[in-house]
Amino acid sequence: MRISIVQFSPQLNKLQTNLDAINHLIGDTDSALYILPELANSGYNFKDKQDAFDNSEAIDKSIFLEHLIAIAKNKKTHIVSGFCERDGDKLYNSSVLINSEGVIGLYRKLHLFLNEKNIFEPGNKGLPVFDTPIGKIGMLICFDWMFPEAWRQLALKGAQLIAHPSNLVLPYCQSVTPSYALVNRCFIATSNRIGTEGNLTFTGQSVLADINGDIIIRGSNDESQLLSAEIDLSLANSKSITARNNVFSDRRSDVYGDLKTGIND
Ligand code: ACM
Repeated sequence: MRISIVQFSPQLNKLQTNLDAINHLIGDTDSALYILPELANSGYNFKDKQDAFDNSEAIDKSIFLEHLIAIAKNKKTHIVSGFCERDGDKLYNSSVLINSEGVIGLYRKLHLFLNEKNIFEPGNKGLPVFDTPIGKIGMLICFDWMFPEAWRQLALKGAQLIAHPSNLVLPYCQSVTPSYALVNRCFIATSNRIGTEGNLTFTGQSVLADINGDIIIRGSNDESQLLSAEIDLSLANSKSITARNNVFSDRRSDVYGDLKTGIND
């Protein structure tokens, strides 16, 4: 299947500008899955919680998501996008999975970075994996990258692809993503933003890694780009690394404990 990472620079307080940039990059391309950066509707570096609140939307009342759902309907495609989510008086740094029917998956960032701790509630949806016609998809958001347990749990739950909307400012993640893909024998797509907001400069270099840790896509550090590749998600079903080694069944969980398995448990 064809997968595309939509690397761009979401603008603070400019929902329509962000939609225009997404439209422009996706254009008349034809991928089975598009992955947008973290907080793609709102920008990142909010003045305070009120500023974030003013730029948030509820999932069932969102101009941004209605627009993405229209794209998904039109192209019969799937989209993963970071989303500044309002739920009552609470805010979540979320990622949604969309198809032509609407929002079919929601993940809320578990590990909040720096000032996000003043703004967002920590995620309360666990680590779901969504079984879709194009494959089994899990989601993590940006700083979640630092926690190997999160990648592992998604892989153990059957994720063939982990979509990773990001607004990375540290320089490390893009080198680590391929290793997480290798040790979990799954595909990982880090869709990172570019640009500067106040004192934060985002590092671009979006990356798609395959089950061998090979980099299939690498974005630039400062350009808006649609980055596309053909991948076969069924390759992620085999966890064998040699004739006698399987990276899941060889795990010594009797020694170091186990994680939950099974989709959506
Ligand atoms: C980050 O988690 N946005 C760095």
